[in-house]
Amino acid sequence: MCGIVGAVAKREVSDILVEGLRRLEYRGYDSAGVAVLNNGQIGVTKRLGKVEVLSQALTESPLGGGTGIAHTRWATHGKPSEENAHPHLSKNRIALVHNGIIENHEQLREQLTDAGYVFQSQTDTETIVHLVDSKIATGLDLLAAVKASINELDGAFGLAVISLAEPDKIICARSGSPLVIGVGIGENFIASDQLALRQVTDRFIYLEEGDIACVNSNGYLIWDEADEPVIRATVSISDKLDAADKGEYRHYMLKEIYEQPKVIKNTLQGRISKDKILEQAFGTEAKAILDRAEHVQIVACGTSYHSGLVARYWLEEIAGVPCSVEVASEFRYRKFVVPKNSLFVTISQSGETADTLAALRLAKTLGYASSLAICNVAQSSLVRESDLAIMTEAGPEIGVASTKAFTTQLVALLLVTIALGRRHGLTAEAEAEMVAALHSLPEAIESTLTLDAEIKRKSEHFADKNHSLFLGRGAQYPVAMEGALKLKEISYIHAEAYPAGELKHGPLALVDADMPIVAVAPNNELIEKLKSNLEEVAARGGELFVFADVNTGLSSGPGLISVHMPTVASVIEPIIYTVPLQLLSYHVAVLKGTDVDQPRNLAKSVTVE
Ligand code: G6P
Repeated sequence: MCGIVGAVAKREVSDILVEGLRRLEYRGYDSAGVAVLNNGQIGVTKRLGKVEVLSQALTESPLGGGTGIAHTRWATHGKPSEENAHPHLSKNRIALVHNGIIENHEQLREQLTDAGYVFQSQTDTETIVHLVDSKIATGLDLLAAVKASINELDGAFGLAVISLAEPDKIICARSGSPLVIGVGIGENFIASDQLALRQVTDRFIYLEEGDIACVNSNGYLIWDEADEPVIRATVSISDKLDAADKGEYRHYMLKEIYEQPKVIKNTLQGRISKDKILEQAFGTEAKAILDRAEHVQIVACGTSYHSGLVARYWLEEIAGVPCSVEVASEFRYRKFVVPKNSLFVTISQSGETADTLAALRLAKTLGYASSLAICNVAQSSLVRESDLAIMTEAGPEIGVASTKAFTTQLVALLLVTIALGRRHGLTAEAEAEMVAALHSLPEAIESTLTLDAEIKRKSEHFADKNHSLFLGRGAQYPVAMEGALKLKEISYIHAEAYPAGELKHGPLALVDADMPIVAVAPNNELIEKLKSNLEEVAARGGELFVFADVNTGLSSGPGLISVHMPTVASVIEPIIYTVPLQLLSYHVAVLKGTDVDQPRNLAKSVTVE
């Protein structure tokens, strides 16, 4: 959840660390801190709030030194405060940053307090730094002390430690939280995400689960889980795209909404011909894996879960394959029956979401036929641990509220649906129709984006509201769920989604003039049913806000604000109708003056359970 950066160089590193933190701020942002070794002392600066506050403090009072670690925090144990911000120190001789959760921290705290350590914070992290110090006190060097300490930790961590006694060195360890080494010339770096280091290098080494590394300015050594020295591949990332640049846009979220035509095109590239999907592009193992699948189990969190819910409609309707979808945090803790020849599908933008990853690891022990990841980060744990991965080509997504990752996930899931459909009676004609619809997608999104100014104007009706309901039917129900999630995430307006037919079984009691009802209304076989549901709302004095196909006859009038949507092939409707809901939440949030890209209490990548 938090972000880690470290550097060992022959130049001053504090600016590099702060720039790295800025790029990691999407992971958590309640406090930030830096520790640098300088002339026999550890200089530490921490601030409550965003990285900018820390940066200002360092401008006023710079920290010199060539070895340092830094951290941006998303609080788990202990409230956001300067004391609880990382780096944590032990006896002013070692400093440590940590991402993850230490489950046995209470017991360790007791044990270390008995040994004379005085705790400055409420964090689980502080137990690690004192534990490492207690090992050093027995005569171990820093590397041996970290190795000995992590044997005593239960939970998940990515951590980095520096010591006054061994100044040209960072020891880092990965167990449950990603870490990467950035390789420089005469200097080296570490981070929880390569994005933090793109300013200083394009060569990266991804640590594997259980790895420990010793990084200094001239090189690095890595040991695996069994404490054997290992060589991990160096990956060069040549992509020059700098995701940390908002360009002409006011917010990353808006930039990312507008990138959707392009990234959808990228996700389709090489995977469809004029009238067919090109299954070979999924990888050599794809055929055998898809041939075997008689059932699909999808597991994901947040927005990615919603894309799984849309896929269920597609998989059962188009491919005739039974499909179950569950949020990862529920799936992993209940007893369930594994259907015969079931394909286990995880969906994740980051590929590091702790619950999704844990669900995959569990599934692998339970007899699922194979595992498929739909993911946006090629080097992520989820991709590496799955039998097959289909990458979404959304590019880095910085806005905490997911937009382009969602629509590219839907595209990838539709490709998988067609591939499975082929094996269960989908005709070549039907496939050609769907492929044509996929080809039309980027343009259809472009034309939906032209509604932006109208949606912005109409969103003013929302800005003074505290609650709202989102309605959809069929595959538009998960689209409504995603719309409601977007609105609550960034505008803090309470929003709930309902299948429109369920309205009269309770939520209708909430309807009055202060409760706007948003509906997504493509002109499909469910439109008449949906219109009846909207009548039920109008009859109770509710104010309707409907994104409706131009041919539905739903037009603005008393109690109804409509935005007319282009007519598109029914299979891509869920993707198209997502876009105006993204724009609606964006404009409402801007009107309310909230922090659109970094909404309160949230984090982009949730690597704790
Ligand atoms: C966090 C993010 C959401 C995201 C969810 C799942 O809650 O704020 O935007 O949908 O994690 O993340 P994943 O990376 O697995 O898609």
